[in-house]
Amino acid sequence: MIPDQWYAVLDSSEVKAGRPVGVTRLGEKMVFWRDDQGQVSCMADLCPHRGCALRIGKIVHNHIQCPFHGFEFDSSGRCQLVPANGKAAQTPKALQVKTYPTREAHHFIWIWWGEPRETYPPLPFFDDLEDGFSYMVDKAVWPVHYSRAIENQLDVFHLAFVHDTTIGRGNRTLSNGPLVKLDGEHMDIWVYNEVDDGSHVALRPGDLPEPARPPFLRFIFPNIWMNRISENMRIVVSFVPVDENHTLFYLRYYQRMVRVPLLRELFNLLTLLSSRVILKQDERVVVTQRPPKSEAKMNEKPIVQDRPIVTYRKHRQELMDQAGKKA
Ligand code: FES
Ligand SMILES: [Fe+2]
Repeated sequence: MIPDQWYAVLDSSEVKAGRPVGVTRLGEKMVFWRDDQGQVSCMADLCPHRGCALRIGKIVHNHIQCPFHGFEFDSSGRCQLVPANGKAAQTPKALQVKTYPTREAHHFIWIWWGEPRETYPPLPFFDDLEDGFSYMVDKAVWPVHYSRAIENQLDVFHLAFVHDTTIGRGNRTLSNGPLVKLDGEHMDIWVYNEVDDGSHVALRPGDLPEPARPPFLRFIFPNIWMNRISENMRIVVSFVPVDENHTLFYLRYYQRMVRVPLLRELFNLLTLLSSRVILKQDERVVVTQRPPKSEAKMNEKPIVQDRPIVTYRKHRQELMDQAGKKA
């Protein structure tokens, strides 16, 4: 995982008032809960007293209460009550739960995976999804390292093979370009696939004109991706590293073509169901990739059309190196 980054790790609707939620994210067991103001906190799912899981505790007095001996912790992880010592007693400083800086925006819950700091970079998201879009949410878990899951969604020339019965119909096997632009933490990709009539070899990125339209794919490091199917249809995915061997997809299907209530929900549902088929087609091949985790330097033989993937690997490594140097 790339340290010192904001990760969207839960859908907002998954953390309800009064009920702690225990999940594994980025290889660590965490508990999320809301205080009386609805503010979400994330902390290690481990009571510092004697190691019980806080996720099976309760929310009381605006604190999370360990189910074992009733110790209460506030949203900063500080112990505020040891019932056995009495309400009048001071609580020992050592009783501190590890916390993760947490934000809530775009209906996601985000955590900062890295050392806390004075100021944080803005949350990575897409700025053109507010106006008139509705969306449906789906989730899927793949038994793969997140690097392979992300790279699959940056791969522009597998469509005619993996999705020959769905989005890859039409046999557009010849893949010109693609154009890839990395700007800060944004990677934009323009795709130019066509049917191969045998008349020419694939055009190289330098042979393509400057694109006049927005990118087909945008990926924002570390884990947010958008497929711009059309001006009025988008797919957004947060690829959440659960642990080294599992990746959780939060998928959102945005559209603003059908706006009449009920009809709109039906349309969104049909999109979601057909997308599940497409995602299963991807999963079938990605789970077989070896080694299970990709690296900037590894024994694969990428071709020019793999540029999005190579760019992803290189920049991921740069970010990890940067974080390593600071640590
Ligand atoms: S283990 Fe949590 S209060 Fe004892
Ligand atoms: Fe695919």
